[in-house]
Amino acid sequence: MEKVEKILQSLTLEEKAALCQGASFWFTKEYPDKGIEAIMMTDGPHGLRKQTGESDHLGINKSVPSTCFPSAAAMCNSWDEELIQKIGEALGEECQQEEVSVLLGPGTNVKRSPLCGRNFEYFSEDPFLSSNMAKSHINGVQSKGIGTSLKHFAVNNQETRRMNVDAVVDERTLREIYLASFETAVREAKPWTIMAAYNKVNGEYCCENHHLLKEILRDEWGYEGVVVSDWSATNDHPKGMEEGFDLRMPYAGEVKNQKIVDAVKNGTLSEEVLDASVRRILTMVLRGMENKKPGSKYDVLEHHALARQAAAESAVLLQNRGNAVPVEKTERLAVIGSLAKFMRFQGGGSSHVTPTMHRNFLEVLDNDYPEVSYCYARGYRLKKDMIDEEYVEEALQCAGEADRVVLFLGLPNGWESEGFDRTHLSIPDNQIDLLKCLSKSGKPVIVFLFTGAPVEMSWAEQADAVFAMYTAGQAAGEAIAELLFGEANPCGKLSETYPLKLSHTPCSLTYPQKERAVYEEGIFVGYRYYEKKELPVQYAFGHGLSYTTWEYSNLCLDKESMKDNEVLTVTVDITNTGNRAGKEIVQLYVRDPECSVPRPVKELKGFRKVFCEPGEMKQAVFELNKRSFAYYNTEIADWYAESGTYEILVGASSDDIRLRKAVTVESTITIKKTYDAYVTMGELMEIPAGQQIVNGMMAGYQMPEISPEEKERILNDEDNVEDVAMDYAAMGMDMPLTKVADMSEGAFTEEAVMGIVQMLNQ
Ligand code: BGC
Repeated sequence: MEKVEKILQSLTLEEKAALCQGASFWFTKEYPDKGIEAIMMTDGPHGLRKQTGESDHLGINKSVPSTCFPSAAAMCNSWDEELIQKIGEALGEECQQEEVSVLLGPGTNVKRSPLCGRNFEYFSEDPFLSSNMAKSHINGVQSKGIGTSLKHFAVNNQETRRMNVDAVVDERTLREIYLASFETAVREAKPWTIMAAYNKVNGEYCCENHHLLKEILRDEWGYEGVVVSDWSATNDHPKGMEEGFDLRMPYAGEVKNQKIVDAVKNGTLSEEVLDASVRRILTMVLRGMENKKPGSKYDVLEHHALARQAAAESAVLLQNRGNAVPVEKTERLAVIGSLAKFMRFQGGGSSHVTPTMHRNFLEVLDNDYPEVSYCYARGYRLKKDMIDEEYVEEALQCAGEADRVVLFLGLPNGWESEGFDRTHLSIPDNQIDLLKCLSKSGKPVIVFLFTGAPVEMSWAEQADAVFAMYTAGQAAGEAIAELLFGEANPCGKLSETYPLKLSHTPCSLTYPQKERAVYEEGIFVGYRYYEKKELPVQYAFGHGLSYTTWEYSNLCLDKESMKDNEVLTVTVDITNTGNRAGKEIVQLYVRDPECSVPRPVKELKGFRKVFCEPGEMKQAVFELNKRSFAYYNTEIADWYAESGTYEILVGASSDDIRLRKAVTVESTITIKKTYDAYVTMGELMEIPAGQQIVNGMMAGYQMPEISPEEKERILNDEDNVEDVAMDYAAMGMDMPLTKVADMSEGAFTEEAVMGIVQMLNQ
């Protein structure tokens, strides 16, 4: 941009340095005489937290009213890209009105452990789903001329010591899980900014991380936007700039600018590198300025209606024994639980907003459903996890007068938030105890559960129906009524697994760690872990019920075999076989049954949400490419779809696969292996030239004679001499060539070994 170049030329070194740091808590630096205004960047992600008074990054001080949409964990359960895009557009309009240029979100860190206090702000345990959701969110906000800040880049998966923990993660896991969750969103939605996380990754802080910022984000993904620090995450700004980092937020004193000036003067930071950052920051600031729409107003009611739709479509009906839901409005309800009145519809920390409006469930019943008769009882103390007999008694009495119990359960505010991790997966004991008592009343019990992440749910047996609402936003009360009375048909599915217990979760033995968090479970996160370990779960990834029923048929692949650079089109027919209109989330997984490296049982590679009237059929169409079949091969430092046969699985959830078909993929990449003297006999046997060598060596080898005594010693009843020979052969397969030479008593020389190695490497 010519304008950017012109401004850049007019800035002194000191001015350039100052532009790379915020001017206050939320604003960038202004130079009015040069035509540069300050722009505001603020939280995010599912509502606008614009503070006009005291500022903080923990959601403590007041912010202007804004629509509180369902948080990412809830929204993601809708698996609805269009809906999330619409929410993004609405957030963009709110930013326009409030003159905010960059919204700090969405957050797309993969959920490594359900204990992470901030999981409610993240989308999924699956990077494919997560990155696509982030992409829609960004597209929505940015379509309104407002920037986003995709956060927290990267591997920020625990709140414990979040500001200095070192996430130690191998390259394949980094690429396939933690970075994949950012990659699609970065490449396809191009967020104006990316927020570098507080933590270290493999020994280097994210704001200065050479591998993450320079090698991957800038060079490989071609990211041209601004890399901004999480609030106060910068450590060594000049070093960060060399790696592709730009903007320190918030303002932390002139001394920070001086460090950049000094670094340029003493030659440790080149001025071109500084200029590149300034160019990117100026481009963002000018974009923000050009897109300001002073005087614009968003429609509060319309946005509330969208929040209501989103809450209803994100709710997941986990179980529904004896069709306990929907209920007739003529039935008398016992509404029980303090959470019905003090609804936990958002999480704590920097995403905490002041809603434009909110009615609790009781207010919704009173105002919108005057015909419904109900009684209310508190049931449990919300702040103290102690059983209060008086409360329980009151609840039982209320249930006694009703046809059905509508019970509100969940995590109190202080149990889960940004800034700390949970230590267990339980909801308060007093709530579980209450449910047990109520289930004995003989009345059907319908639970609405409010958490930001999975909880242990052995108590679910005592309930007839359970809805996972998550932190469903300011319109949660209205959405619950719609779902309860069947005005909305549940259509959300879980974007994360509900384990049976904490000890079953992928990193439960060590999570969270303090100085070094070692990601020992590697790529086996979420359902990738539970499936591989064959662990039963409470509710599987992708699970969610509806008031209607669905049939899957006619799975078609447009080819039976393909090269890895071709596209495979997959179609499947989805029919609504029930008597209510509804939406179904169709999931496509790819399975590599013959892989040469450890891989998950299957991986999500496509999803579609289809709407059908009763009896209607719709076709879901998916396109798969190389990446859908590939794993990250560290030898070639690239994605690699091994030649072989893969299975395409289509289903209603990860544990409900309805249809499957095979496709053969041929790789266009030949991996040239390099060998050394430690090449094993087994590796040699995998290649024709190697087989000849081994056969040649074996030709001169005699099986040792086994004496009768020796035989007696090594054989048991069922073995015979051939079996023993086989065992020796199996052992031999792992013998390195050089060791075979060592043990050949001079028959096989070191020169011969080197000759073979040289030949193999030709
Ligand atoms: C959070 C960010 C947030 C920032 C500003 C930090 O503590 O990690 O997500 O955007 O504060 O409030």
